[in-house]
Amino acid sequence: MPGYELWGDDERREVMEVLETGILMRYGFDGARRGRWKAKELEAELCRALGARHAHLVSSGTAALTTAMAALGVGAGDEVIMPTFTFVASFEGVLSVGATPVLVDVDDTLTLSPDAVRAAITPRTRAIMPVHMCGAMADLDALQAICREHNLLLVEDACQAIGASYHGKALGTIGAAGAYSFDFVKIITCGEGGAVVTNDEAVWRKCDGYTDHGHDHQGADRGADLHPFLGYNYRISELHAAVGLAQVRKLNTFLAMQRQTKRILKDALAAVPGVTFRRLPDPAGDNAAFLSFFLPEERLARTAADAMKQAGLGAMYWFDNNWHYIRRWDHLRQGAFLARLPAELARGLKAAADRSFPASDAIMGRAISTPISLAWSEAETRDRAAKLAAAVRSVLP
Ligand SMILES: Cc1ncc(COP(=O)(O)O)c(C=O)c1O
Repeated sequence: MPGYELWGDDERREVMEVLETGILMRYGFDGARRGRWKAKELEAELCRALGARHAHLVSSGTAALTTAMAALGVGAGDEVIMPTFTFVASFEGVLSVGATPVLVDVDDTLTLSPDAVRAAITPRTRAIMPVHMCGAMADLDALQAICREHNLLLVEDACQAIGASYHGKALGTIGAAGAYSFDFVKIITCGEGGAVVTNDEAVWRKCDGYTDHGHDHQGADRGADLHPFLGYNYRISELHAAVGLAQVRKLNTFLAMQRQTKRILKDALAAVPGVTFRRLPDPAGDNAAFLSFFLPEERLARTAADAMKQAGLGAMYWFDNNWHYIRRWDHLRQGAFLARLPAELARGLKAAADRSFPASDAIMGRAISTPISLAWSEAETRDRAAKLAAAVRSVLP
């Protein structure tokens, strides 16, 4: 997920424009900033790129998830259904508003299994959070149908999925709200940053206030703002927004490069008997940040990942990863919280920690992803494709 690989003059120019005025904050100081509003500009660019009505920048993808939950009114007593394969931040976003994350199985899309979602619905379920892992989509038709049937919110964690789409609509723009991350290793980066997108103006206004101590941002005098509700500080700085502005203008270039590179790797691997690929509900919408595939057994997948690493290739064996897959979230399993939690939340977390997920294990134990870089020439990609196929073939019987 490599925007930082194509860092250069465009990013430096945008940052310098901010440094010239010295106005590093996104709100206020109207005269001194001499017309430079990098966060606002980036929000407008995101709306254009994603086809969303509103975008609101924040300090991280995790803050974007928290903000989306708060703006949609998700809180204590609510349950949010999310997948076992994610980044722990999706879980944190739910927890941070006092709602209970309910983990359910993934299927061969490496995202939420609609059947598992249905089975987890209770009278307290408020939202379903698909996490579009590794740049590709959950089965959104099925999940939207469940949301309609049970009157639930769809909140998309599209932190890894900017530029990806589902039947022509950008991932992140399909539910009630979506969250993106622009941290250092995402497809486009601000260094640190994130965004909430929504088509609902009222939700957007809540995001805007919530992330700046409840300020209503109605006038030019920040000191005279009203505060219709309590908020926090999840603001992005103008410096970070400036970097993202240069990056978002290159999003389509990044996507085209990733897709071409992925095609070459996938064609090589498709020739290896026993390899199957992650199911994509809309293959045309993949942002191609990773190539994800399955081997017939857990033992073979673990050995293949090792063989790939030996060959100098990136290999994510998520099953053993302690950020992305529930099996290794030891802090949750050990109940390692810094402070006492409300009793109801503590019970929900214990239930999540104590559960086992054999259906997810059966998928994740066989899955490997290899990241796609923007830095490879076509010749290097072809060389890597040959090494990838050889490494995987070497472990198969
Ligand atoms: C799926 C997913 N959700 C949320 C986040 C959180 O983003 P951030 O690191 O910007 O807080 C990430 C970041 O890696 C992610 O991959």
